[in-house]
Amino acid sequence: MKHPFQSYRQLFPVLSSHIHLGSCSQGAISRPVSAAIEEYHRSLLQHGHNGDLSMARVEEARGHFAKLIGAEPDEIAVLSSASEAIAGVATALPYVSGKEGIVYADTDFPTVGHIWQAQDQFREHIRCIPSMHGEVTLQQYEEHITENTALVMVSHVNYTNGFQQDLKSMADVAHRNQALLFVDAYQSAGIIPMDVKAMGVDILVAGARKYMLGIPGVAFLYVSNDWIDRFKPKLTGWLGQEAASRFDIARPVPAAGARRFETGLPSFISIFAANAALKLLLEIGVTDIQAYMSELLEFSMEYGRRKGLSIRLPSGEGALPGFIAVEVADASAVESRLRSQNIIVSARKDVIRLAPHFYNTAGEIRRVMDEVATI
Ligand SMILES: Cc1ncc(COP(=O)(O)O)c(C=O)c1O
Repeated sequence: MKHPFQSYRQLFPVLSSHIHLGSCSQGAISRPVSAAIEEYHRSLLQHGHNGDLSMARVEEARGHFAKLIGAEPDEIAVLSSASEAIAGVATALPYVSGKEGIVYADTDFPTVGHIWQAQDQFREHIRCIPSMHGEVTLQQYEEHITENTALVMVSHVNYTNGFQQDLKSMADVAHRNQALLFVDAYQSAGIIPMDVKAMGVDILVAGARKYMLGIPGVAFLYVSNDWIDRFKPKLTGWLGQEAASRFDIARPVPAAGARRFETGLPSFISIFAANAALKLLLEIGVTDIQAYMSELLEFSMEYGRRKGLSIRLPSGEGALPGFIAVEVADASAVESRLRSQNIIVSARKDVIRLAPHFYNTAGEIRRVMDEVATI
């Protein structure tokens, strides 16, 4: 199988000594990202804090992420984690009697349940859809979303088995019931092209450290300009105000766009990293990345099957997962054993996740699956 991104491999030092299939947890770090981290470090070390440069990088990163998902920069808030973003929305969503239902699935990342259950006014109105064999079908969402539903949360790609949801169809179901669709795209942003406007996504969150190739400390929250005025953040601070530089303690006015979800100074070092990583991704192009990933994932499933591995697969004709989840008896032990051979995979519950990115080759997948089959 041809690898169209071969020339980019030299940008990722870890690839010269390791097989890196851990993008569902932490993507490989590239030289441009490393240089951006250095730039921040050097500027602090040699020139003291450079506020203008740091804030310029925040704005660049905001613009890059907006481009990545087809949004406007003023629809993006730059935050520190996906959890912060979800909590920001949960605490800002107005409570309307008769329209207070929150829908999510038991396969969503646990932080989703933790945050919504901490909201006293919504707790009694949560519908957590039980999955069947790790999957939640569109039909199940249709059954649980009613005219009472205020907001539906959905994982674009599931964090344990890689199953993908059809966002456009999800948006249709949510909107038929006048509910907002909030997408957790942490496992898809960077490898699956997204156009939030065309897909009808109202709110979306993704952190930088997985397929977006950054480091921990940054997450982006998209809130459509159509709905932003509904939200008056309670998790707030000076950078969420219309004019932070006025330093007016008495009269807080939320910023006009999604920036209102911001709180205090962000982790600049992580933003420098995210900015460089997003620039690289945009240069390569997520559409081309997805085309290669589909080929690579199909190859992986076929090869894994031939090797007798038990791979979790979504039902549905031609449905592809976002990564490969292989069932094993002791996932942590397998992860450690592979680690000792310079192979990076990630264990979750009873599976190990082989999560390639554009920099991986079919040969690497083959080698790892051979190892797993032996174990
Ligand atoms: C799908 C998904 N959502 C949310 C999170 C939580 O992200 P954070 O630690 O930035 O809150 C994760 C973390 O792995 C995740 O995989």
